Amino acid sequence: MNVLVTGGLGYIGSHTCVQMIEAGITTVIIDNLSNSNPEVLNRIESITGIRPRFFEGDIRSERFLDSVFSQIRIHSVIHFAGLKAVGESVAKPIEYYDNNVNGTLVLLRAMRKSGLKSIIFSSSATVYGDPETVPITESSPTGNTTNPYGTSKWMVERCLQDLLASDPAWSITLLRYFNPVGAHTSGLMGEDPKGIPNNLMPFITQVAVGRREKLSVFGDDYPTPDGTGVRDYIHVMDLADGHIAALREVSKREGLHVFNLGTGKGTSVLEMLSAFSESCGHPVPYQICPRRPGDIAECWASTAKAEKELNWKATRNVADMTRDSWRWQSENPDGYEKK
Ligand code: NAD
Ligand code: UFG
Repeated sequence: MNVLVTGGLGYIGSHTCVQMIEAGITTVIIDNLSNSNPEVLNRIESITGIRPRFFEGDIRSERFLDSVFSQIRIHSVIHFAGLKAVGESVAKPIEYYDNNVNGTLVLLRAMRKSGLKSIIFSSSATVYGDPETVPITESSPTGNTTNPYGTSKWMVERCLQDLLASDPAWSITLLRYFNPVGAHTSGLMGEDPKGIPNNLMPFITQVAVGRREKLSVFGDDYPTPDGTGVRDYIHVMDLADGHIAALREVSKREGLHVFNLGTGKGTSVLEMLSAFSESCGHPVPYQICPRRPGDIAECWASTAKAEKELNWKATRNVADMTRDSWRWQSENPDGYEKK
C-alpha cells in the first residue's frame, strides 16, 4: 500500500511515518517546511533504515500535487498539513483559512482528478468547543468553536461530509486528536515548535532544559480537583498507531468514519508538572497566572468507538509521555537545529 502523508515532516506526521514504515507501508511525504526541518527526514531514516520519498511543496499548488500523483500510484492520503496555533489563528484568520480550508480543497481536487478517494484527516478535539459533558463521544455536538483554527478544522470536516454526500465512493476518516505529547523512544524525534511554545508540554521541556525561566500555569481556579485545567494527553506514538489502525480498518471502506483519539483519562497541569519533575529529576519552576482566554476547564475523550471499530487503544501512560519528552529535549536541547 502506498500512502501519501501531507505535513509528514511535522510533529505528528513524522512519528506516524516511522510507524507506517515499520509496518511495511510505502510512505511518501509532502511538506512545505513552513513548520518543520529537513533534518527530520534523516532521523526517520536513522530509526527505520528507510528514507521515504519526499516532495517539498505546498498543498495549495494543484500543479505540484498533480505532478506527485502522476509519478506515484497512491492508495490513501493522510492529511496532516496545516497551521495549528490557536492564538496565531485569531491574529491571522486569512492565513489559517487559506492553509487549512483552501489547502484541503486543492488537495481533494487533485485527488479526485487522479481517481483517489481515500483520505484520513487530522481533526481536533477543538471542534467540540466547550463540551457540556465529559467524556466527549464522537456524537457530542461540534461547531461551537472559539477561534479561527478550530473553525477551520470544523469547516474541513463539513466539506468532507458534503463531498461524500455528492459521491459515496469516497472513504473519509476524521480523527479528532486530544492533546498529543511525548516523543519517539530513540530520542531522535520529538516536538520542536518554532518560537515560544503555545502548548503545555513543549513549554515544560524548555523550562526543564534551561531555555526558559519558568512555566506560567494558566489559572488555578477552575472547577477541577486542583483548580488547574484538565486535558486528555496522548502519547504521540499511540496517536501514530491510531493512524495505522485507521489505514487498516476503515481507509478502504467507503463512507464516513469518525474517531476520537485520546486515552480517556484526564490529567491536570499540576499533575503533569509533577510527573515531569519525576522524569527529569528536578523541580520545574512555575508561577500561577490568570486564566488564558478561550481555555476550557476540562476535556477528555470517550475511547469506546475507536477501541471497538479500530481495534486500537492507547497503551502509554503519563510517565511514558514525560520520560520520552524529556529524553528528546535533553538530548536535543535546540531541537532539530544544528548549533
Ligand atoms: P506541525 O506543524 O508539526 O506539522 C504540520 C506540518 O505541515 C509541518 O511540517 C508544516 O511544515 C506542514 N505544512 C503546513 N502547511 C503546509 C502546506 N500548505 N503545504 C505543505 N505542508 C504544510 O503540526 P502537528 O502537531 O504535527 O499537527 C499535525 C496536524 O494535526 C495539523 O493539521 C494539526 O492541526 C492537527 N492537530 C494537532 C494537534 C496538536 O496538539 N499537535 C491537536 C489536534 C490536531
Ligand atoms: N497551559 C498552561 N501553561 C502553558 C500552556 C498551557 O498552564 O504555558 C495549560 C492550559 O491552560 C491548559 C493545558 O495546559 O489547561 C493544556 O494546554 P495546551 O495549550 O497544551 O492545549 P489545549 O488543550 O489548549 O489545546 C491543544 C492544541 C489545540 C487542540 C487541542 C485539542 O493546542 O490545537 O489541544 O484538544 F485543538
